[in-house]
Amino acid sequence: MFTFDRKLTFLAPLSGYSDSAFRGICRKLGADVVTTEMVNAIGLTSNGSSKTKKRYSHFHPGEKPIGIQLFGNDPGIMADAAAIGQELGFDFVDINMGCPVKKVLKTGSGATLLRNKKLASSIVRRVKRNITLPLSVKIRTGWDEKDRSYLHFASALAENSADAIVIHPRSVKQGMEGAADHEKVAEICNNLSATYIIANGDIETFYDAKRVYTSSGCNGIMIGREALRNPSIFSLIKRYANGERGNGFPSLGDIVLEHFRGFHTLYGAKATTFFQKHISWYSRDLPNSSTFREKVSKAANPEVMKFEIENFFKKNR
Ligand SMILES: Cc1cc2nc3c(=O)[nH]c(=O)nc-3n(C[C@H](O)[C@H](O)[C@H](O)COP(=O)(O)O)c2cc1C
Repeated sequence: MFTFDRKLTFLAPLSGYSDSAFRGICRKLGADVVTTEMVNAIGLTSNGSSKTKKRYSHFHPGEKPIGIQLFGNDPGIMADAAAIGQELGFDFVDINMGCPVKKVLKTGSGATLLRNKKLASSIVRRVKRNITLPLSVKIRTGWDEKDRSYLHFASALAENSADAIVIHPRSVKQGMEGAADHEKVAEICNNLSATYIIANGDIETFYDAKRVYTSSGCNGIMIGREALRNPSIFSLIKRYANGERGNGFPSLGDIVLEHFRGFHTLYGAKATTFFQKHISWYSRDLPNSSTFREKVSKAANPEVMKFEIENFFKKNR
């Protein structure tokens, strides 16, 4: 059974991106643990939701260990959804208490829960009671930068038996602006020595990972956007930690092609259009990427897509 008990590197939940194809690539390239994108607990529990269930809860054995991230604000529904996650074979459940997107905030879920410690505690308690799997909660550090309630909030989660807390140390108001403040992660780690703490935010290199581990005292790290740019970041961190340097990584072009093959299996004819969002991340910092993206946006079928990918990344090795 999966437990939060050693230094682990997690793929972050990424709405619209961390589907089965992307998680598989990240696991293959060294992510120790992956997570689904956020799944609406109501969608998972209601009867007429086979589309939601299929889309969000599908994974293959090679992705394990894998967590399902749930969002919602009704303790009973969240507890039922968590039990469904357990039945489906997930290895742990994660609760989203950090999403700052208006659509989610309006439903009283995500980061709204940071302002309601009582309800958040009740959700954690009810979910924990309904599953035997480990439970983590993903949070931000307060509503705005002056808000220091994150210390009490994290303590309440731990008191209600959350096994792990993922901390993205930005406030809700910050969105993705400014730098992630890992001193706040250190504060939480110092306060909650018995809880597994996962630090998340702006980890883009081995040296970032090392600095975050050392300065915060966290137990694990989670990576989001850098994985979208280059999923090799996971194996790179491992190799560097073992003192290995140099080549031996698959090229980005080969990774993108393999990702697209898996993506095509998952989405069929729609893959050529849907994959463009990944192409944007993969090519973002490379020369002539806008011309490449334009060509890709006109790709009429998977063969043309593969040709354009090969052609572009060959030039950008
Ligand atoms: C495209 C995108 C989608 C995201 N979707 C989710 C999500 O579904 N659930 C969640 O908790 N956080 C989500 N996040 C936030 C990330 O999990 C992570 O906390 C944030 O990107 C900071 O980590 P990073 O600097 O490594 O990217 C998303 C972020 C991005 C960029």
